[in-house]
Amino acid sequence: MSVATPTSEKILVDNMRVSIGGSTILRGVGFGIREKSVFCLMGRNGVGKSTTLKALMGLLPLDSGTITLDGEKIHRMPTALRARAGLAYVPQGRDIFPHLSVEENLYIGLKARGAKKDKEEIDRVFTLFPIIREFLNRKGGMLSGGQQQQLAISRALLTKPKLLILDEPTEGIQPNIIDQIGDAIKMLREEGKMAILLVEQYLDFCRELGDDFAILDRGSVCASGQMGDLSDGIVKEFLTV
Ligand SMILES: Nc1ncnc2c1ncn2[C@@H]1O[C@H](COP(=O)(O)OP(=O)(O)OP(=O)(O)O)[C@@H](O)[C@H]1O
Ligand SMILES: [Mg+2]
Repeated sequence: MSVATPTSEKILVDNMRVSIGGSTILRGVGFGIREKSVFCLMGRNGVGKSTTLKALMGLLPLDSGTITLDGEKIHRMPTALRARAGLAYVPQGRDIFPHLSVEENLYIGLKARGAKKDKEEIDRVFTLFPIIREFLNRKGGMLSGGQQQQLAISRALLTKPKLLILDEPTEGIQPNIIDQIGDAIKMLREEGKMAILLVEQYLDFCRELGDDFAILDRGSVCASGQMGDLSDGIVKEFLTV
């Protein structure tokens, strides 16, 4: 049984340690994401960003540490329960079923996550990404990489998450679709119905959209704060390749 504790954060990650195949990958990662905010988790390749997200979703077990959503400890819950509790995750790369239609892609998994088709949410997805409505009957695999990313985000939104988790949504995507995804994140932020955890290496995208940031370096947080505090010195030390 989990005990609710008061917290001003939507989600709080504390001292999270994770190993893969006997090697420690995360060495005590901690951060808090405020209600209705966009939080950017940044860092160079291989520092543990995706591992952090997988651990949040329960796809990797924690060696130690806690994850608290709305005051409730969720780090022992299986992935499906975390999804029901309000986490929606769009993994790095393309996460769609290429042989199913766009419409089937949107609805598959909703039931498993305990969610129902909701006209208001579907209309909102069509507003955010008009291409989804246009291509409803097309096979997912026929969409461009960027459109597949939009479909994966749309599917996550249909579960009405408390926290939307996006792993490098701009990676390998053409600039006009990056702009559309950025606009969608802005709209979601303005609506204020969820917090967003964005893993990104594209600095301008983070600067434009993020309220707060944390930077990972070799499995721990080396810098964090409000986006306005992300100095050129920090960028040079921990982000520039
Ligand atoms: N399945 C795995 N088996 C062994 N090592 C792994 C595995 N997954 C990740 N790692 C290692 O864990 C470290 C962190 O990987 P992770 O994918 O979390 O990095 P990342 O910050 O998301 O990088 P990128 O920016 O390239 O996506 C890396 O050193 C990686 O090699
Ligand atoms: Mg990654």
